[in-house]
Amino acid sequence: MLSLANAFGAEELLDFDRRVRSLAGLERVTYTGELKIDGLSIALLYRHGVLERAATRGDGETGEDVTAQVRTVRSVPLRLRAAGRDLAELEVRGEVFFPIADFERLNRERAQRGETPFANPRNAAAGTVRQLDPAVTAARPLDSFLYALPEARAQLPVASQEQVLVTLRELGFKVNPHFAVLEGIEAVPDYCRHWDARRHELPYEIDGVVIKVNDLGLHERLGATSKSPRWAVAYKFAAAEQETRVLDIMVTVGRTGIITPTAVLEPVEISGSTVGRAVLHNEDVIREKGVRIGDAVVVRKAGEVIPEVVRVLEERRRGDERQFVMPERCPVCGAGVVREQGEAAHRCTGGLTCPAQVAEGILHFGSRGAMDIDGLGPSTVAALLEAELIGGVGDLYDLTVEAAEGLPRFARKSAENLVAAIERSKQQPLRRLLFALGIRHVGERAGLLLARHFGTLERVAGATEAELTAVHEIGPKIAASIAAWFTRPQAGELVEKLRAAGVNFAEPGVAVGMAAGEQDVLAVAAERRQAATEGAGDQSGPDEAPEIAEQLSGITFVLTGTLTSWTREEAEERIVARGGRVSGSVSRKTSYVVAGENPGSKLTRARELGVTVIDEDDLRRLLLSSGG
Ligand code: IVH
Repeated sequence: MLSLANAFGAEELLDFDRRVRSLAGLERVTYTGELKIDGLSIALLYRHGVLERAATRGDGETGEDVTAQVRTVRSVPLRLRAAGRDLAELEVRGEVFFPIADFERLNRERAQRGETPFANPRNAAAGTVRQLDPAVTAARPLDSFLYALPEARAQLPVASQEQVLVTLRELGFKVNPHFAVLEGIEAVPDYCRHWDARRHELPYEIDGVVIKVNDLGLHERLGATSKSPRWAVAYKFAAAEQETRVLDIMVTVGRTGIITPTAVLEPVEISGSTVGRAVLHNEDVIREKGVRIGDAVVVRKAGEVIPEVVRVLEERRRGDERQFVMPERCPVCGAGVVREQGEAAHRCTGGLTCPAQVAEGILHFGSRGAMDIDGLGPSTVAALLEAELIGGVGDLYDLTVEAAEGLPRFARKSAENLVAAIERSKQQPLRRLLFALGIRHVGERAGLLLARHFGTLERVAGATEAELTAVHEIGPKIAASIAAWFTRPQAGELVEKLRAAGVNFAEPGVAVGMAAGEQDVLAVAAERRQAATEGAGDQSGPDEAPEIAEQLSGITFVLTGTLTSWTREEAEERIVARGGRVSGSVSRKTSYVVAGENPGSKLTRARELGVTVIDEDDLRRLLLSSGG
């Protein structure tokens, strides 16, 4: 049993239609729209009209034999109304599900008996069908909708999916009444929207609609990929909301010192992924939402992926909820925490004396979209700082195998690998170096634009704000931030260290006629700007939204398993292009673990730490919703 490819949004539905038409060589295709029942998929085998076997989908290849259990489902006929036809062997597929009202009743009863309630109707259906004792299954009101006859054409006069549904009904099956024949792709979005708006009026849960090519002859011609048929697509609805509890509100210190509060939630399932955290962004957001530690809250996935607290269920307060207060001192370095005028964020004033900021800066430097230093993960950075082998990014290139070998849990081989990875990073193109430096508002895209325009680090450093804003897409905020960054004395030191280590400062393929003595440009530029900004106060640049979309800023992803719609590199590039970060290992600070197929131990680690796990579809949805 295959599964279905998912489409999010009208654009992906049009893509589906384009693919179908181009493979079929047709101008126009008729589709059926069906509700996507959120239950448990089953396959039924009838021999000479009698139900012989029922199986779950399992891994698609091998399912569980649930014949005894399915026989107790009242809407599944034990004998077909074959109207005189001898159907030697007939396979039927569909979904068994738990009606919502019955699910709620079952959960009330379970709670009264002190049993754990089911998380949702789907889990209740799965738990009921998999019951070892069919008597238990029989006592629960499971229902069914059938929708497919995979091998029908040999035995029955059916030429279309519509006829399949009609025939199933004639044979005595329960068929969902809300299917529609849709003439051409134009009719599809309306059907999707209609059921998205009406889904809550149904007595059972649906998680989308399924669009199928109506002509069964075309099904055969279109065939299937290794995972899903090419003649169908699932249009998934936006994620539902769930209730849970705020166990704690913790804060993390980011690379630029911004202190971000995050709600630690009692883990809940929201449309397929477990949510354990919700970013609360800043003090104002907490105040507006009125969130207290211990509150029962409604959470949903914003942009359908990022968990957010929608509202507090005040009526459920017990009186022991606690107000969250922003720490007055940085939880990492103890330096004062300030909230500057006009800013929403609190910031640690420790700067590069704050180990969290230093560590985050080094991690960022070595991250995938930046200098891509394999093995430079959070624990290694922490160990390097702890052992005082490095004090900042500039010291990385002085690290020797002998020194690294002395780190806790570091064997010779890993020390060699780390030093080799650091060495290799010297060859990275300028665009990555610019991004790696961690200049505020300079994301990967800005790095690329600047590198293409200026060609060398010296030229970027020496550019005036006017010259910087002359670059297409670089606005005054980015320009001010870059100019300010290069005038800091630490920046000069860092650049010199990197130069001495032999780090590449040029963008390959960009021709720059470097005049003799141009290397001194850096110093000259610094002086020039120093004079210009004398008395200008804070040089960190205004903290408004950057011109270049960075919707994922502050969000760290870890990818595990195989992705199917993108290569790992593509996925990483897309995340980084939107200001997100990709890390190689899971920690408490990981925002999301993206689990592809056959995920590894990172998934286990994520579950242990309560990190939110999303799947590839979630990632796609997130990247699409955040601007492309
Ligand atoms: S057609 C090759 N039609 O959705 C699979 N599936 O995400 C063809 N589902 O495994 C499936 N309602 O369990 C189809 N009207 C419907 C459906 C439906 C629910 C489930 C089914 C399938 C899953 C795919």
